Amino acid sequence: MGFYIGIDLGTSSAKLLLADGQGKIHKTVSRDYPLIFPRPGWAEQHPGDWWEAVKSALAELLQGVDAASICGIGCGGQMHGLVVLDEKDQVIRPAILWNDGRTAAEVEYLNGVIGKERLSGMTANIAFAGFTAPKILWMKKHEPENFARIKKIMLPKDYINFMLTGVHACDYSDASGILLLDVEKKCWSKEMMEICGVTEAQMPKLFESYEVIGTVKADVGLPGTVQVVAGAGDNAAAAVGTGTVGDGNCNISLGTSGTIFISSEKFGVDPHNALHSFAHADGHYHLMGVVLSAASCNKWFCEEILKTGDFAGEQKDISEDHLGRNRLFFLPYLMGERSPINDTDARGVFAGMSMDTTRADFIQAVLEGVAFAMRDSLEVAKKLGIEITRSKLCGGGAKSPLWRKIMANVLGIAIDIPQTEEGPGYGGAMLAMVGCGAYESVENCARALVKTVDTVLPDPEITARYEKQYQKFSAIYPAMKDTFKRMMQE
Ligand code: XUL
Repeated sequence: MGFYIGIDLGTSSAKLLLADGQGKIHKTVSRDYPLIFPRPGWAEQHPGDWWEAVKSALAELLQGVDAASICGIGCGGQMHGLVVLDEKDQVIRPAILWNDGRTAAEVEYLNGVIGKERLSGMTANIAFAGFTAPKILWMKKHEPENFARIKKIMLPKDYINFMLTGVHACDYSDASGILLLDVEKKCWSKEMMEICGVTEAQMPKLFESYEVIGTVKADVGLPGTVQVVAGAGDNAAAAVGTGTVGDGNCNISLGTSGTIFISSEKFGVDPHNALHSFAHADGHYHLMGVVLSAASCNKWFCEEILKTGDFAGEQKDISEDHLGRNRLFFLPYLMGERSPINDTDARGVFAGMSMDTTRADFIQAVLEGVAFAMRDSLEVAKKLGIEITRSKLCGGGAKSPLWRKIMANVLGIAIDIPQTEEGPGYGGAMLAMVGCGAYESVENCARALVKTVDTVLPDPEITARYEKQYQKFSAIYPAMKDTFKRMMQE
């Protein structure tokens, strides 16, 4: 039997899985790595840490497995991170990540001086602090010596693919989030490269996510016949892993970030660019809203503030009767916010405490605050005439039955739980199956392998209560916006 390795190169860990061609997962292994916050709102990681984690997880994954049975590898990776290599293919500086907010000035320049309309015309998107192009401009201004040494620019999972194969490649889904790709035409935008002061030779070669970029190098510990596909940004890979392909399907991910991902067969742009317009790993396109801190809010609150790792235990006293009745609200903007407010200065807020507020109210407020922030993106999609009545749910947060219920009722849609929760890793393995010829297309592969095991329906009473709560939540950010700006000034 042939096996496929899926890699989820996340923000807190690398998760590897071994699946057979019928989609059964035989083994999973994960390795954590540190996240560095050099300043408030900045986030970096060492690409070397990613590679060490992948190598070590790979060795454990392969224990007791006949390496000759491995056919292919596919990686879904955290998006937008700026990885820069010198002429000897050595990493020049730590990667600047997707949730790093240092580029407010560069975003202002791109959106204000180059102009949103022109940017959207060239790339289908406007600038957000997490995107890669503003980071390139930041490096050019603040680290000119490093900038001058750049031979190759790539994204996090492309670095892993490079270490596996020696090939500098990027797929269209992940490349969309660099802001140097003409998403509709699927080629690097010459104008945008000029604006950022880079050349096409510095950019990786472009592939569809399911296309093979090369075979593994001799030092990887696998037979040289193992094929590596281009892979995808983690959201597109997760969408593949939950069967969110083709036209008009939706996937919500509650990982470190929270995303709402709408697949589309046709290219389309949100006229206000609040939702990203990116290429999908199935060869088509998608729209996406991104909440920068989602499951990470719950992790932060439990681990940093309550000093506990028992997430489920903290949720057990929250009854269904209390849903939509919490008097405590939480703005989840711990790393600023992307969709739809695009504000690097925004920060987390608890509002509404009184002497009877309980520990459980705080936990509930955190889960609800993330759901309300996701609803903001859903509202943008609704205004574009996109009708969403149900969505898949994946990511670490999807494991919580309470959070599933909150999501279904805050969004007012049915939430389908796929059999396999390993979104990006499973999607990566599926892309490898398609690349190796086990399935004709990503859609065929998804149809054959992805199964829904549970559905959470919204309850009309709870949804009605949450409707009122959402209106209250929506008033907090506008009231705080100017204060956030002042708070961030030195
Ligand atoms: C998407 C985004 C995040 C990261 C998380 O635009 O920035 O979802 O991909 O890994």
